[in-house]
Amino acid sequence: MSEDKKSFQQIATSTLVPERRVGVKLYLRTGLDRYVLFINESAVLSSGKIEQLYSNNVKHLYLDTSDRPGYLSYIKGNLSAILDNPELTANDKASIIYDTAKDITENLFSQPSTENIDQTRNLVDCMIDSISQSPETSNLMMMITNQDYYTYTHSINVGIYAVSMTRKILPGISENALKTLGLGFFLHDLGKAQIPGSILNKKGPLNQDEWRKMQEHPTIGAELVRKLGAGTPEIIDIITSHHERYNGTGYPNQLSQKKISLPGRICAFCDVFDALTTKRSYKKALSTFAALKIIKEETPSHFDPELLNPFILLFGGN
Ligand SMILES: [Fe+2]
Repeated sequence: MSEDKKSFQQIATSTLVPERRVGVKLYLRTGLDRYVLFINESAVLSSGKIEQLYSNNVKHLYLDTSDRPGYLSYIKGNLSAILDNPELTANDKASIIYDTAKDITENLFSQPSTENIDQTRNLVDCMIDSISQSPETSNLMMMITNQDYYTYTHSINVGIYAVSMTRKILPGISENALKTLGLGFFLHDLGKAQIPGSILNKKGPLNQDEWRKMQEHPTIGAELVRKLGAGTPEIIDIITSHHERYNGTGYPNQLSQKKISLPGRICAFCDVFDALTTKRSYKKALSTFAALKIIKEETPSHFDPELLNPFILLFGGN
C-alpha cells in the first residue's frame, strides 16, 4: 500500500523507545515519494521491531507532516529516555533538544503556568544531562540557535549560551547547581509574557511610557515565577538582574560591578549577544564577529571585563 498524496517528514529511528507508543502513524520510505505504513498510531513498539529497523540499516522513518504535534508530544513525554539512547547522534540530540525547547517555551510564553514551567525544568535537566554526557552537544546546540527573534527562541538561545558560559567559568559546578541556573537563564525574560504585544513587537523606538512598562519585565518575571512556585533565590536573581549594567546604569536596581551576581553578569552578555545576532522586522542580524566587537566596546561600561574573554572563547571554535 502506498500513500503518496501526503506530505511526509523524516524522523530519526533512534528517537524510538521500546515499549512506548508514539501515537502517530509511522511510515517506511520505499522509493522516491513512496511510503508504506510501518506502524499505526495505537501500536506499541517492541524492542524486536526497533532492532529489526537497525539491522536493516533503516535510520529514518517518516510521518505525515500534520502529525508532527503528536510526535512532539511523544518526544516531550519521553525526552530523557530518548536522549539516553546511545544510537542517537550528537547532531540528532542537539536538534531534538532545540525543537522540543521551541515547543515548550512557546507554550510557556503564551500561557505561563506551573505545568509549563515544570516542562521547561524537565527540558533543562535533560539538556544538561546530555551536555555532560557528550560535550559536543553543547557546541552543536550553539550552532542551531535560531536567527529569527521571538521571545521564546531568544529564551532558548540565551539559555544555551549562558549554560555553556557557566560551565566554562565554573568548571567544577555540580550538575544540580547548573540545572537550577539553567532554568533561571531559560526563564530570564518570562516577564515579557505579560508585556503587551504592541510594546514588545513595536517596530520603531518606544515612547517614555512604553519604555517604562518594558523595564518592568524583570520585576514582573520574578513575581510570576514566585507565584508559579518556581521562585528559588537563584532563579529570581537571574530574572531580576539580567538588565543590570556593570557601571550601574542598568535596571531595575542600578546595581554595579560585583554587586550584580555572577549569573546576572553572565546572562547580560548572552542576552545582548542574542539580541544583536538575531533579526527583527526592523533590523538585520549582525554576524558573530560584529556582535562580539560591540560587546567588547561596551566592556567595562556594560559588561564585566573579567568575563569578556571566556565569553568570546565560547564562539572561538573550541
Ligand atoms: Fe530581558
